[in-house]
Amino acid sequence: GRAPQGDFMRPTGRTLRAGSEARANGVGVQAEDTRICVVMVGLPARGKSLIAQKVVRYLGWLSITAKCFNVGSYRRTNTPNPSASFFDTSNKEGERLRMAAAEEAVKDMVKWFQSPDNLIAILDATNSTKTRRRWIKDRCDAEGIETLFVESKCDQEDLIMANIKEVKLTSPDYEGQDPEEAAQDFRQRITMYERVYETLDEDESDMTYCKIINVGSQVIINRIQDYLQSRVVYYLMNLHIKPRSIWISRHGESEYNLSGQIGGDADLSARGQQYAKMLPDLVSKSAGDLPLTVWTSTLKRTAQTARHLPYEKLSWKALDELDSGVCDGLTYADIEEKYPQDFKARDEDKYNYRYLGGESYRDVVIRLEPIIMELERSENILIVTHQAVLRCIYAYFMGSSQEKSPWMEVPLHCLIKLTPRAYKTEEERMVANVPAVSTWREKGSAAVHAEATPNPSAMGTPVIKPEEKA
Ligand code: F6P
Repeated sequence: GRAPQGDFMRPTGRTLRAGSEARANGVGVQAEDTRICVVMVGLPARGKSLIAQKVVRYLGWLSITAKCFNVGSYRRTNTPNPSASFFDTSNKEGERLRMAAAEEAVKDMVKWFQSPDNLIAILDATNSTKTRRRWIKDRCDAEGIETLFVESKCDQEDLIMANIKEVKLTSPDYEGQDPEEAAQDFRQRITMYERVYETLDEDESDMTYCKIINVGSQVIINRIQDYLQSRVVYYLMNLHIKPRSIWISRHGESEYNLSGQIGGDADLSARGQQYAKMLPDLVSKSAGDLPLTVWTSTLKRTAQTARHLPYEKLSWKALDELDSGVCDGLTYADIEEKYPQDFKARDEDKYNYRYLGGESYRDVVIRLEPIIMELERSENILIVTHQAVLRCIYAYFMGSSQEKSPWMEVPLHCLIKLTPRAYKTEEERMVANVPAVSTWREKGSAAVHAEATPNPSAMGTPVIKPEEKA
């Protein structure tokens, strides 16, 4: 006897059209057979790929299947390392090859949309002329796919420079090239595009679009038609794409962690208090003198962990640990004995399993959405929270699958720094030299309770002890 698993605001008494049941699982009120192609628009180095990646990750995190079609990677199959002259519009061969790449990408996208679970595609390219955009709209109209044009328009030199630096460091177009030459060529490429670039304007007033000017200082929206479109636009309005990092840590070891009990509102153990004392140093070694704001849950162990941090603090109910319902206060061994079927069911589908009278990981993701939105709007945030909540936040940034994320190993006494980049989020883990128990249990394993040495290298990420960081 379980309640149905946590869908989004699923409406009652509404008939879903055939084939849309799977979609409704992700988005609830989306009762139409909507498929949307989000078409990126803008000059190179305006953060388009970062926006595209973030939208895909955000939607995937909310169980809305989305995929990015990057025209650049199609073009790389015919022209792997083009110089700026390839993008000159008077270069007819270049024009032909670029159009061929766009056609391939659109063809693949249309094919991808044949599966009823696939809802949102992002066409990541400059799409900088009205002719190109009209062509995309006509192609999509013919297939019954809605289009949402998203333009990133930016004239802030510092931001463009940061993007150029980022691209020259990470784009496969410039792999193995001298960084200075790459930057120069890339700037020339931008000039080629500037000659033909047309911003979205009244000529395109029949189109659905969202124009983001100077990373959100102004946003113009036109003809947003349905729930799913407005949901994407709302996310875009909160997004800022300035370079920044986010720090996350679990609370220090608690008395409950020591006894292997889950849930509750226990105090920190002696070792947990030691971690709390070390945390300011660990944080400042990683964040320097950035004016951080610390977000904790409403539970004692997170407030106690943040106690010595010299920053402004905010506590959020939404950051409280996954509610384990009737199992609150039990150990995994107790649960295995008292509720053997539940213990097994949770192992089989940990993301969807909802504790009797409690929550599932899916439920936690839903309640974390406002946190993610606020996190996207903010800078310099350090979050002190709990194992399951941290996994959900981590999954949002890293794009981890629902299969894997609930099983991720996040040791106690470890500070994680996440830095979102155009093509992926970078991660750095810093371990405090204070031992703690392990609260991690492997899928399918018996309920164990073990002392852990501080060695969280399980994710293959660099582990930097505080004293080793300059
Ligand atoms: O054991 C610590 C804890 O934060 C519990 O309070 C919580 O129920 C559990 O971790 C969540 O982790 P898992 O989903 O792996 O059981």
